[in-house]
Amino acid sequence: MDTTYNPFSLMGKTVLVTGASSGIGRETAITCSRMGARVVVTARDQERLQDCFNQLNADVEGHLQFSADLTNEDDVKQLVSSLPSLDGAVLCAGNSTTLPLQFGSREKFDEMFDINFFAPVELLRLMYKKKLLVKGASVVLIASIGGTHSFMPGNGVYGASKAALNSVMKYAAREYASRRVRVNSICPGMVDTPLIHRGTITEEQLAEDAKRYPLGRYGRPEDVANGAVYLLSDAASWLTGHDLVIDGGFSI
Ligand SMILES: NC(=O)c1ccc[n+]([C@@H]2O[C@H](COP(=O)([O-])OP(=O)(O)OC[C@H]3O[C@@H](n4cnc5c(N)ncnc54)[C@H](OP(=O)(O)O)[C@@H]3O)[C@@H](O)[C@H]2O)c1
Repeated sequence: MDTTYNPFSLMGKTVLVTGASSGIGRETAITCSRMGARVVVTARDQERLQDCFNQLNADVEGHLQFSADLTNEDDVKQLVSSLPSLDGAVLCAGNSTTLPLQFGSREKFDEMFDINFFAPVELLRLMYKKKLLVKGASVVLIASIGGTHSFMPGNGVYGASKAALNSVMKYAAREYASRRVRVNSICPGMVDTPLIHRGTITEEQLAEDAKRYPLGRYGRPEDVANGAVYLLSDAASWLTGHDLVIDGGFSI
């Protein structure tokens, strides 16, 4: 066995992870560092971000953290001006809402689109325009099966923001290929993070819903983090414009 052979390694790569203070982003940042990457983490909550930063693999030098509200134009500009050259980015920061469409006012759509669509799209645009993404870099957008399926009633506003993100992902993949920058997304099913526990869905309803997943459970943050590692790694160097569904078989 060749113990040095690992096309999934992130050794020598610098990777930005947004939404790193909680859930999927936090786990992705930690996993990337364990796979050898130098990681740049960002989120709003400094205490939780620091906690994630403290968990990053200390064998890799130079991890960075920046607190920023990605719906705030000045914060985004400040963040972008502080970023080093990147081999990868996982744009994970986001939110959800469960809201019947009859209550989906323009204001509610704007709120959801600001963080789930406009924030990652603006960051992606600026990282590319300012040539922060090196040749061969890989960007992973965290979308959702909510953007491809009506996976649960009341997720139309959320789903629309993720469907729009997946659409931009495909155009970016096509346009950025000229610089050999890859852009893909992950569409997770329900993943057990703080996000799913702070809405209006009760714990009983969540437990019942989890039974609809063929593999018998909701996802764990590491299920998505491992998918992100693959997309960031050289093992996926011929993969772009793809939405990778990680949902325990739900959408079958
Ligand atoms: N959990 C699921 O079932 C599931 C399924 C499919 C897709 N997703 C997607 O996966 C992503 C991560 O979700 P999660 O489940 O890990 O949720 P989470 O635990 O609530 O984490 C959300 C992260 O986004 C950050 N964030 C939110 N608003 C922000 C803002 N305005 N500026 C900067 N950062 C912001 C939060 O950090 P601060 O609060 O510190 O800013 C936090 O780190 C989201 O895009 C979500 O839509 C989740």
